[in-house]
Amino acid sequence: KVLEYFPEDKRPDITPLIAERMSIYENPVGKEYKNYRFWPGSHKYTMEWQYDNWNPTNDDVLVASYPKTGTTWMTAIVKNIIYRDSAEKLEMTKSISFLYSYLEQGIPLKYEVMEKLPWKRKIWGTHLPAPLVNMEKLKKNGCKIIYMVRNPKDQAVSWFHFCQKDPFIKSMEGYSENWDEFFNGYISGKQANCAKEGEWYPDHILSWYPYRNDDNVMFMAYEDLKKNTAVEVKKLCDFLNVKRSHDEILSIVKETSFDQMQTEAYGLSKSYFFRKGRVGEWKRRFTVLQSEQMDEKIEEKFSGTDIRF
Ligand code: A3P
Repeated sequence: KVLEYFPEDKRPDITPLIAERMSIYENPVGKEYKNYRFWPGSHKYTMEWQYDNWNPTNDDVLVASYPKTGTTWMTAIVKNIIYRDSAEKLEMTKSISFLYSYLEQGIPLKYEVMEKLPWKRKIWGTHLPAPLVNMEKLKKNGCKIIYMVRNPKDQAVSWFHFCQKDPFIKSMEGYSENWDEFFNGYISGKQANCAKEGEWYPDHILSWYPYRNDDNVMFMAYEDLKKNTAVEVKKLCDFLNVKRSHDEILSIVKETSFDQMQTEAYGLSKSYFFRKGRVGEWKRRFTVLQSEQMDEKIEEKFSGTDIRF
């Protein structure tokens, strides 16, 4: 589909693409890269290419997050802010699978294709920890980065449900259909995903934390976005240098609301990406002891930072 954007005589040769794709299929689940483990689809060549050759400008936007922290929601908001009412919004949604714009996913050739696409402002995504992104280059270029943060307790419950639905992820080390087993694996870092062995979600937050005050970086909490969506969307507009009227902001909030997105499913599997969309669902799943255990671990991890859940 993406090739359709190129005049016929200028279409890139996709032979290497096919070869590389084959090598991705051979990439085992949970393959390590620089001691970080990733889920299927992430590829070391792509990560390397990203670090060395990807050259975003100050028009580009990167939505960075750990899985299940509201990535899909934030991406939809950013897309709406930038491409509201433009034909590009529809084209972008239709023609580029959201995985295609994920820094670590797919094959290096996709960067060349993405860079040639006619949209002025490109929206990228990543679950990479900060050390695997060339933060110095992105800062210099002014690439805008939005990092989503969510209460690890809600993230854990969301992840637990997601894993049950994905046969690949379910087969990765450390996952269990039994919540208690899953929980123990989760907090002891046995389910390293976009993380090193022994690390868990808070380590991902801590990897991005040192950049939170950079001019090109904005941290956004799922809980704040949920509580006061319009106020946070306005902040996002300012950060992205896009002027939107109050009415436009209210429309963006409505069009990206959980109910609306779940109905439209945004080309994604409904049950995978739109589950409950609530804050505090963990209370229905955690035992008192599990909650205390996690509080203790969270406190330990975030002491010395201003992050509180
Ligand atoms: P729950 O499983 O707690 O419902 P990601 O996009 O990073 O995979 O995150 C998925 C989580 O975001 C899921 O959380 C999903 O329901 C929630 N979500 C998706 N769209 C949303 C929206 N428009 N508003 C609020 N939450 C949303």
